[in-house]
Amino acid sequence: MDENIYLIGFMGSGKSTFGQALAKRLGYKWVDFDHYIEQQQNLSIKEIFECFGEAHFRALETQCLKSFTVQKHCIVSTGGGIIMMPENVAHLKTQKTFYLKWDFDTLYERVKADENRPLVKSYEQLLALYQKRQTLYEKAASKIIEAEGKSLEQIITQMIEYMEATNEDRSH
Ligand code: S3P
Repeated sequence: MDENIYLIGFMGSGKSTFGQALAKRLGYKWVDFDHYIEQQQNLSIKEIFECFGEAHFRALETQCLKSFTVQKHCIVSTGGGIIMMPENVAHLKTQKTFYLKWDFDTLYERVKADENRPLVKSYEQLLALYQKRQTLYEKAASKIIEAEGKSLEQIITQMIEYMEATNEDRSH
């Protein structure tokens, strides 16, 4: 197991929390694309959206994903909109990519008051975005993790079991 592992999912799906826990368990490096872009640009995500717009942020995110193809042993927590660019979906599809899938209402409760997420506006607007993105997350994922009702430990175990099983398949 030496490749990168990508976590995708809507805002509030715990990509950072699960990414850190999985990295700790496997002894991999944890990378969070939002933090990485903020450090690189010396601006917050909110400022990038405000000053340069969403399209600019998507270009930075796409560049970031490309640059990680040379890395190994990273658990990458991506931003929720990484699948908005078709080339990112195509790339993630070739990697070990876990989609953390939750019900919309669970996610909404977690993010509704977060002023640092520029795309969080009304319930209806966010629901429409969630619905629009479902098929893209599913298309990009090598494994869908049905996270609702599961503990962190159960989810991490499911990811590790999947990785072990797919690595065994490859060695035969
Ligand atoms: C976005 C999700 C955010 C961040 C940006 C855009 C999105 O990341 O990249 O605000 O389009 O869903 P999180 O999923 O970590 O909140």
